[in-house]
Amino acid sequence: MGPHAASRPLTLSEQADELEEKMMNELNDKIATKSALFNMADGNLDYIGGAELRARNPGKYFLMGADPRLPKMPEKPTLIDFFKHRFVSMNHLLQSATLALKAGHEEKVVLACLLHDIAVASFIRCDHGYWGAQLIEPYVDEEVSWAVRVHQALRFFPDESLGYKYPDMYVKYFGQDYKPEPYIVEEYKRARGHKYYMTARLICVNDIYAFDPDAKVKLDDFVDIIGRHFKQPKEGLGFDNTPSSHMWRTLMWPTRFL
Ligand SMILES: [Fe+2]
Ligand SMILES: [Fe+2]
Repeated sequence: MGPHAASRPLTLSEQADELEEKMMNELNDKIATKSALFNMADGNLDYIGGAELRARNPGKYFLMGADPRLPKMPEKPTLIDFFKHRFVSMNHLLQSATLALKAGHEEKVVLACLLHDIAVASFIRCDHGYWGAQLIEPYVDEEVSWAVRVHQALRFFPDESLGYKYPDMYVKYFGQDYKPEPYIVEEYKRARGHKYYMTARLICVNDIYAFDPDAKVKLDDFVDIIGRHFKQPKEGLGFDNTPSSHMWRTLMWPTRFL
């Protein structure tokens, strides 16, 4: 029913329905834009400016909020909401955390394993340890974010005292001759003598290379540990004005025009 079809004033619930319908139509009508990085992933530096995009989509506005093609996020999203609605897969994280839990490690280590690759799961692969650490830094003990940051470098260096060898998978993935870049080597050297070295190393030890598609793992097993060790902001992740709030918002709204 169009806005002028009713011969009597609309009831409140009809007004709400009409508003909702209007909002839906607008969302579906909007132009979702690809950031430079999304195009670079296709080896493409072409830039299509706002004016040209508008010309190609006459009468449409740019998306400045939620992308209707992605799962809806609640108004005040929690870490669990991001796991459920924004992570492309949680299996690797859950399997690693489950292994750490079964090995009897303390909860901070289990949390570090649960979060170690969240950047890969939701954001970007390049320097995933650094991005992941930055995302969680305001909400976890510094031991956890430090370990997440540094596990990226430690992965390339064996520690025989814990039975950790250079991963066969890396030989397969990167070739026999691959050498980590100097900044990774430097990170490793700094980490060796650090007080949280062992936490980062335990991420590597519990990291699963051999992905088991049949492993029975569930997020529910970790809800309490998250509750105890991840300081969920009452405003919701993204709306709490921390140094990483903008990153959570970007995960929420990856195709916003600005
Ligand atoms: Fe990793
Ligand atoms: Fe991993």
